[in-house]
Amino acid sequence: MATTDASVQTRRRSNEIKRHGAEAFAAMRKAGRLVAEGLDMIAAHVKPGVTTAALDRLMFDFAMDHGAYPATLNYRGYRYSICTSINHVVCHGQPDEKPLREGDIINIDYTLIVDGWHGDSSRMYAVGQLARKSERLCEITHESLMRGIEAVKPGAHMGDIGHAIQSYAEGERCSVVRDFCGHGLGQLFHDAPNILHYGVRGEGPRMEPGMLFTIEPMINLGKPHVKVLGDGWTAVTRDRSLSAQFEHTVGVTDTGVEIFTLSPAGFDYPIGKA
Ligand code: MF3
Ligand code: CO
Ligand code: CO
Repeated sequence: MATTDASVQTRRRSNEIKRHGAEAFAAMRKAGRLVAEGLDMIAAHVKPGVTTAALDRLMFDFAMDHGAYPATLNYRGYRYSICTSINHVVCHGQPDEKPLREGDIINIDYTLIVDGWHGDSSRMYAVGQLARKSERLCEITHESLMRGIEAVKPGAHMGDIGHAIQSYAEGERCSVVRDFCGHGLGQLFHDAPNILHYGVRGEGPRMEPGMLFTIEPMINLGKPHVKVLGDGWTAVTRDRSLSAQFEHTVGVTDTGVEIFTLSPAGFDYPIGKA
């Protein structure tokens, strides 16, 4: 195609994004619900002295007990059923034998394959009593995610999501991580499009009914810059400021949005405690 007409380019880009039907939505509901139930189950185990390796084993067993498979296990060389990102770790923290400490904030990110379909969600958990600044960051990050989700409806632009998140988070004197984004998913774990958590209203492909993707903003108390440690996975804030993240898997419906990974126990936020 020789044209450089912007509307044609936008159409071409949104044509790469799969649109799914009713059966896919039913499958995503099932996968998303199981992920949320796993994230609910683990809440009671997050406390001082517990290791992230122990949490990983519980989440592996939960998958096995429910006929599901953790999508991250052996994914591009990753060896765990969850990512556990503590304090200044932005994402992709690997479970290990170090005990959690009072006052830590930890993101647990869980992706399950159920009947071939992916549900992907993460939440922040409090380890004991939190400092007010930690609690505030978690609240702002959850609100950022929900504002991003509110921007999802047919005809809206992908940039509307990023704009909603960025304008709110920066208004609260926090920063949005640029190096990682949300993603299309379904029968693939990471598919087109990239969902940026910053951006400009009216930019990016238009949303259409049947599109499936995650929104998963990482918000820092300090600067947005990130570095990946020598293990090739663990991403941390360069200034060692606290970072938080929440993630939901959503689908664009005829009238708006469906969230597949809401907590049946009501633990989405405040931080789940059983
Ligand atoms: N669940 C993460 C996401 O939200 C991906 C983790 S990939 C891993 O996309 F290999 F680090 F586990
Ligand atoms: Co994801
Ligand atoms: Co995830």
